[in-house]
Amino acid sequence: MKTNDNTILITGGATGIGFLLTETFVNAGNEVIICGRRDNKLDDAKKKFPQIHTIRCDLSREEDRKSLYDHISSNFKNINILINNAGIQRMIDFKKGTIELFAGEDEIEINFKAYVHLSAYFIPLFLERKEAAIINISSGLGFVPLAITPVYSATKAAIHSFSKSLRHQLRNTPIKVFEVIPPTVNTDLDKGARDKRGQTNKGIPPSEVAKATINGLEKDEFEIAVGMAQNLIIGSRNNPEQIFQNINRLVV
Ligand SMILES: NC(=O)c1ccc[n+]([C@@H]2O[C@H](COP(=O)([O-])OP(=O)(O)OC[C@H]3O[C@@H](n4cnc5c(N)ncnc54)[C@H](OP(=O)(O)O)[C@@H]3O)[C@@H](O)[C@H]2O)c1
Repeated sequence: MKTNDNTILITGGATGIGFLLTETFVNAGNEVIICGRRDNKLDDAKKKFPQIHTIRCDLSREEDRKSLYDHISSNFKNINILINNAGIQRMIDFKKGTIELFAGEDEIEINFKAYVHLSAYFIPLFLERKEAAIINISSGLGFVPLAITPVYSATKAAIHSFSKSLRHQLRNTPIKVFEVIPPTVNTDLDKGARDKRGQTNKGIPPSEVAKATINGLEKDEFEIAVGMAQNLIIGSRNNPEQIFQNINRLVV
């Protein structure tokens, strides 16, 4: 797929992996629109790349997903790539019943429903394009769940399944469906939880994920497994119980 002259929406494009995707796609000659909830992060990104467009939205709210689509479809007539990247990760102890589950944001809304709904909004528009793409950012934890982040891991497994079905449904259309599968990446996703539990592996820099994404797009490599995520995928197929025990033995 062509990696320049596209018009791209990157959800959560102001920080972490999303921001490196913003940088990479701007530098490759694409028009980039980003969205997120925090104005200061959107403003910082805009200062670095004045040519980008920023939109404040909370993707956990259906009305914001719809107004994001309405705004983009009327103001960016050439939009042809959606990157579903915005996500959150929470540690939830189910021994406490609903207490932790209901005390924070809803991972199912943000990590799963928003990906599904935005895809559904944009697909009819993308069907009119010569070439278009939906790029879903999942995770190695979608293949081997980390039990302390049970809902997060399940949403990422769901994104893998959803991406496969979407790719099959859209196989004879101009829309290509990519899944990017990062390993641990050094961002603020975990809000310091890795440090608190003494995890020394900070992960790869987000620039490596962005680089792998644009390379994979160029080669029409539809499942882009980055670094150690490849080992998780192979392990999940060859020896699922062993690899599950290995990654969960290290954390309590
Ligand atoms: N870091 C890792 O180890 C890792 C590994 C595998 C996969 N991933 C995936 O990579 C993606 C990006 O994560 P990251 O590591 O780059 O973390 P990050 O820096 O925390 O980025 C997450 C982005 O999503 C946005 N976001 C979160 N909730 C939102 C909402 N309700 N509405 C709109 N935007 C929202 C955040 O902006 P606001 O808070 O301002 O809204 C932020 O810009 C996620 O899907 C994550 O699951 C990360």
